[in-house]
Amino acid sequence: MSRVAYVNGVYRPHGEAVVHIEDRGFQFADGVYEVWSVMDGRLADFDGHMARLHRSLTELGIEIPMSAAALAVVLKETVRRNRVLDGLVYLQVTRGTASRDHAFPVDVAPTVVVTAKRLDPAKGRRAAGNGVAAITRPDIRWGRCDIKTVGLLPNVLAKQAARESGAYECLLVDELGLITEGSSTNAWIVDEHGKLRTRDTQANILRGITRAAVLKLIEAEGLELEERAFSVEEAKRARELFVTAASAFVMPLISLDGAWIGDGTPGPVATRLREVYLEQARREAI
Ligand code: PDD
Repeated sequence: MSRVAYVNGVYRPHGEAVVHIEDRGFQFADGVYEVWSVMDGRLADFDGHMARLHRSLTELGIEIPMSAAALAVVLKETVRRNRVLDGLVYLQVTRGTASRDHAFPVDVAPTVVVTAKRLDPAKGRRAAGNGVAAITRPDIRWGRCDIKTVGLLPNVLAKQAARESGAYECLLVDELGLITEGSSTNAWIVDEHGKLRTRDTQANILRGITRAAVLKLIEAEGLELEERAFSVEEAKRARELFVTAASAFVMPLISLDGAWIGDGTPGPVATRLREVYLEQARREAI
């Protein structure tokens, strides 16, 4: 079945969908993106991702290209046309196309691109059932990681390092030896005393929508939680280590830089949180 992409108001065959060479996303990484998980053909955590998109655009002074309702129609239509039941839908919004000049162009409409991709849910289930490996690298990103920009080169390099090590994710480490987040995920531990910990969002990290949903579930489950950074050493000593993202849900990590976490199998907390997150996200998807 052929794939379809939405570009600036038009649905086009995926292989023919293009943006201009002077698009500022290409020239300057001057744009933002969002990723929704697709469950049973519907979008999970819809409002959270939409709110973050608006915030990213506003922080960068990029025009909001269309209402949330109109964008919902486009996202769903792209999912429908690609017949995605389980997968991801991606949205990129750039500042638009203009003759190259670092400063913002005047009277230029943003570029809007939507693509959808199928994923095999069995693959994710297998990974979560077995647990996956992670490595660490220094966090070399800029100071506004709360904005979900398409400027992802440090994240790309980190993920490639993970790939070359046979690992699933690369956790990024600040100058104090504390883990900030994963290259495309937020990071969590269940510490040696059984308390959940994840870095607070005042720090230079992305405010994960899955993270926010999991925080609420943790409260509902009556689990103890602290929003405080943890070090690589604390992660290695932890009972459990896991990451969250729209593309990973809750994914248990069973080793870090070659050291086993806990007994080297997915822990009960991450496994339970994955289960309740998936159940809720599926129920509330639109
Ligand atoms: N990544 N941190 C970073 C750096 C991310 O890129 C992501 C998401 C997350 C998790 O955010 P959320 O729970 O809202 O998906 C944290 C997406 C999935 C991506 O780049 O493909």
